[in-house]
Amino acid sequence: MLYFCPMNNNNIDEAAQIIKKGGLVAFPTETVYGLGANALNPMAVAKIFELKERPSFDPLIIHIASYDDLKALSTEVNEKIMALAKHFWPGPLTIVMPKSSIVPEIVTSGLDTVGIRMPNNPIALELITKAGCPIAAPSANKFGQLSPVNAHHVKKQLPDVDYILDGGNTSVGIESTIVSIDGDICHLLRPGFITIDDIEKALPDTFVFDIAKPEKLVSPGLLKSHYSPKKPLYILNDSIRRLPANSGLILHGRNNQLYSAEKIIYTSETHDKIEITAHLFDSLHKMEEDESVKNIFIEPVEEKGLGIAIMDRVKKAAYQYNNSSL
Ligand code: TXA
Ligand code: MG
Repeated sequence: MLYFCPMNNNNIDEAAQIIKKGGLVAFPTETVYGLGANALNPMAVAKIFELKERPSFDPLIIHIASYDDLKALSTEVNEKIMALAKHFWPGPLTIVMPKSSIVPEIVTSGLDTVGIRMPNNPIALELITKAGCPIAAPSANKFGQLSPVNAHHVKKQLPDVDYILDGGNTSVGIESTIVSIDGDICHLLRPGFITIDDIEKALPDTFVFDIAKPEKLVSPGLLKSHYSPKKPLYILNDSIRRLPANSGLILHGRNNQLYSAEKIIYTSETHDKIEITAHLFDSLHKMEEDESVKNIFIEPVEEKGLGIAIMDRVKKAAYQYNNSSL
């Protein structure tokens, strides 16, 4: 595996060559790192599923760098889709829309829709442009494990990837918001940095249905357990009075004096939701890596605005342990 700092353009050239030849490149986006392959090459895309140990029923997002790619990948780029794209791209919004015939079945797991986004990261955009093809990429982690927000996290979980472009820590820190546009209706499939309020402002005459808690699995990213650390993770609640020995504690502000623990990580000094989002996965990775930590405890945040996406990830990471007592 090659592992390089991105500042040198030749490295992006080399990574683009690997994509062209059907290989896999992990690259930074503004949300989390992606594990990319040429979206139009089914053999290359198959390697993503293999390396990530991802079930084949879970479709991939396609990353683009131009509006020409959008038009080639979808048969129905309607006004609402264009309005959302123009408003939020490049940025952390994935739009699910009808797919065109050039999109291989393996990318969409046989669905007739495809999720597309234009990432807001110069390395990602240059990679896509230089590779000369749209890039299919899930988050660059093993299926079900913590999402990677820096190159070290990728290397830890996917040591056999052909190439990692290192763009430092991602700025947003959690995966994109996913919406689908179905005629006049907009559905929220996965909460993220862009909130329902943001979307309703961009589409003033459209109601956004929040179906992030569906009966039926519309987006496998909605699996209840996902993004989990390899250690028990508990969400703090009133019934937890004291933490056991060897606990790691993740707090979002300096004012929580209720608990003490061997190791404490603050995602923010002041409960700033943007800071919490940016540091969430990194704090979980650090607790996972710290050998002295046996159990991880995390403070909840209020489920409003960006807090909805934060608690979506926290609850999924803690799902196994959320309902059990110590
Ligand atoms: O921020 C992100 O979205 C990151 C970066 C790398 O772009 N990518 C990411 O990909 O989070 P992944 O594969 O970990 O999550 C994509 C989610 C999956 O849960 C998948 O089920 C859903 O998007 N998805 C993809 N295509 C879909 C479709 N046609 N219909 C419904 N859900 C879809
Ligand atoms: Mg993922």
